[in-house]
Amino acid sequence: MAESTPDVRNLAKPIAYDELGSAFRACLEGITDPIAAMATASALLHHGFGHLWTGFYRVVAPNLLRVGPYQGTLGCLEIPFGKGVCGAAAEQRRTMVVADVHAFPGHITCDARSRSEIVVPVFDISGALIAVLDIDADRPNAFDNEDREHLERLMTWFTRGPLRE
Ligand code: SME
Repeated sequence: MAESTPDVRNLAKPIAYDELGSAFRACLEGITDPIAAMATASALLHHGFGHLWTGFYRVVAPNLLRVGPYQGTLGCLEIPFGKGVCGAAAEQRRTMVVADVHAFPGHITCDARSRSEIVVPVFDISGALIAVLDIDADRPNAFDNEDREHLERLMTWFTRGPLRE
């Protein structure tokens, strides 16, 4: 079990995500509960990188996201598919990298300091969309393709299905 949240702000992205990925898997050794995994990923990514808001919106009805585990200031509670960046990612089942949230039509402002964000879909073992991971930064253009690749890889944890509890 990892005992502290690694600070990865000064590391190159591959090393940073590698460290956080190892801590994530170590923390969750023997656990299959997706909510526990969402809480753990939120804490590690948020404090590791010093993001503004890091958390999950869960699919709770056919076209509805509801807030799940997160770190940061209060998030909005529900987001319909198709609304904002999270709703777009859920509807299109693909990662959205938004360099400037002010230029994204329908962006939902939960924290006025948010300037850029990345939203990554989360699937279960059957390929069903169960959530989206939403990360907001207080500076424009904070996320790129490298973040997308690493975060999508991290989220494959949720596709592994029931192992042992
Ligand atoms: N950024 C989101 C809304 C959720 S909050 O930022 C926590 C969006 O437009 O989808």
